[in-house]
Amino acid sequence: MNSILFKPSELTELKALVYKTCGINLHEGKLELLKSKVAKRMRLTQMNVQEYLSYLRSNEREVIEFIDTITTNHSFFYRENKSIEYIVKQLGCHPKREVKRFKVWCAACSTGDEPYTAAVQLKALGVTFSILATDISHSVLEIAQKGIYKNDKVKQVPLSILHRYFQKGTGKYKGYLKIKKEIQQHITFKKYNLISDRIPGSDFDAVLCRNVMIYFNNQTSEAVVNKLYQSLGTDGFFAIGNAESLMNMKHPFKSVAGIPSLYIK
Ligand SMILES: C[S@@+](CC[C@H](N)C(=O)[O-])C[C@H]1O[C@@H](n2cnc3c(N)ncnc32)[C@H](O)[C@@H]1O
Repeated sequence: MNSILFKPSELTELKALVYKTCGINLHEGKLELLKSKVAKRMRLTQMNVQEYLSYLRSNEREVIEFIDTITTNHSFFYRENKSIEYIVKQLGCHPKREVKRFKVWCAACSTGDEPYTAAVQLKALGVTFSILATDISHSVLEIAQKGIYKNDKVKQVPLSILHRYFQKGTGKYKGYLKIKKEIQQHITFKKYNLISDRIPGSDFDAVLCRNVMIYFNNQTSEAVVNKLYQSLGTDGFFAIGNAESLMNMKHPFKSVAGIPSLYIK
């Protein structure tokens, strides 16, 4: 249990540190969880609150590990696939399809379900592509790189795709599936902080930034959306989560008619 008493000023600093590092606004409910995590770490490191806060100030990784336990990394294959399906189709019939290697960026890829979802569909269509898949959290990127998932994560994957691009686990991997190398080789996983890192390029054909801005306030989301705009080439696609909206912010994107949460540069 959390037996350490935090002064209001210390909690405010903790909250500010999380906001500054990841752009995440912790509301009251989540604050209790954060307090208990911090208390546990303090007991382990035998630091007092002030020492621990000063350690956190220079240790982004430790802050991110807290965020991991507080935010959700929840994701699954073919989640909100309408926008991905549309992008894949457009790239598949792009006038430069025969000569171009398309570039996709999944900017909060979590455990990899999302970039692999895009990859299997692009591969099935015979499109030449590479995917940059990034996330702030080291632990989700490790899982993503392995590409091994419980069966229940792929429930929405069409059977033909499942048979073609996944290997069934046996023995201790019974109940798991592994993404095949021919898919993995198209994806590079990297740590990237949407708040503080520079865009990794300006010629992406599509950027997916889905179900992460729900944790940001409007001002932070607006800054992220405008930054991601710069990472797209002409006519590049921008997908957000179905529960997210660009409505209350200034941005230059045009929405794609009939496809919720999809925009074009
Ligand atoms: C709910 S998951 C979304 C995964 C996937 N995009 C989807 O829609 O299924 C949110 C992810 O955002 C990541 N995240 C949170 N803050 C971030 C930041 N500032 N920069 C990059 N990623 C961040 C979390 O680590 C988490 O993996």
